[in-house]
Amino acid sequence: MYILGIETSCDETSAAIVQDGRSVLSNVVTSSLAFHKKYGGVVPEIAFRKQLETIALVADCALKEADIKLKDIRLISVTSGPGLLGSLLVGISFAKALSLSLKIPLLGVDHIYSHIYANFLNCSVIKMPFVALVISGGHTSLFYIKDFARIKVLGSTQDDACGEAFDKVARILQLGYPGGPLIERLSEKGDPRSIRFSCSNTEKPLNFSFSGIKTAVLYYVKHNLDTRYSILDTRKKRESRIQDPGSKVADIAASFQETVINTLIKKSLLACQLKKVKRLVVGGGVAANNRLRERFHQETAKVGIKCYFPTAALCMDNAAMVAGLGYQLFKRGDSSDLSLAAQLD
Ligand code: KG4
Ligand code: ZN
Repeated sequence: MYILGIETSCDETSAAIVQDGRSVLSNVVTSSLAFHKKYGGVVPEIAFRKQLETIALVADCALKEADIKLKDIRLISVTSGPGLLGSLLVGISFAKALSLSLKIPLLGVDHIYSHIYANFLNCSVIKMPFVALVISGGHTSLFYIKDFARIKVLGSTQDDACGEAFDKVARILQLGYPGGPLIERLSEKGDPRSIRFSCSNTEKPLNFSFSGIKTAVLYYVKHNLDTRYSILDTRKKRESRIQDPGSKVADIAASFQETVINTLIKKSLLACQLKKVKRLVVGGGVAANNRLRERFHQETAKVGIKCYFPTAALCMDNAAMVAGLGYQLFKRGDSSDLSLAAQLD
């Protein structure tokens, strides 16, 4: 069974063809990132205008790459939320139009759950139940999953999402946007133990808080680096900051990154312990971070927990994960109709 997935929750426009919910035949992703960079974050108005321009072309590419025709599709699975309203509506409207004209069933799926499902693509089955950690630009949550129709939230961020903290710290360090990959690169040249940052405690142990550490980095920079920094810095100067080995900026990035990773590991292990499970599944854009992946594998192995990550490409927003999750839910009898609406959160 061929499923067409559509994902337009943020700045990406993606379409994918997935067979039987598991094997990815194509996964085309385009992004309007280049148009947002100068604003230091995603501008919703720009995002959905670019998505309107590209969605049909991207879907066409996905069909061509998978070497199948529209008439071969048996299900259209589309991200219905959470995300940016205008962006979600582009994907949902496109999916509805296709579903109506081709008489193919339609299903709206949750973007966050599809990040977890990315672990099930192109690989062997992961036994349930398991604990899942989703770390993305908009969300940070721990879940207990018996199956994809029964997902229990164990904890969530009380303020900033984990990826958002990477993006904000990168902005403070004037590295550029999106911040995650830039902080990761810079951290390789820094000492993660050089500065003592910490993530704020939360009343509920499985919740997260990242706004405190972001502010701590801001004050650290103000007190220690301000004179060397100017908002008028050129791109070349910013680049040299990333290249500069052993710099104080690299130490800040590495110490911040390590503290966030330690917190994520500590809470994930606690969730596994409380739910008595030995499987931890991680997804979302921040899960592409190599240092994080390495540390999670090390720490989970010490306590006999098996840890799963999607490939780096499948950690990012993509339509294959949407198609795959849609297939599993459709098999259970779920479907949507033309009243499908965008869910903002
Ligand atoms: O899941 P995603 O592609 O979009 C959302 O659903 O939000 O995640 C994007 C987030 C951004 O905040 C970005 O900075 C972060 O993931 N990110 C990373 C890395 N690559 C992307 N964070 C840390 N290290 C990375 N290598
Ligand atoms: Zn995402």
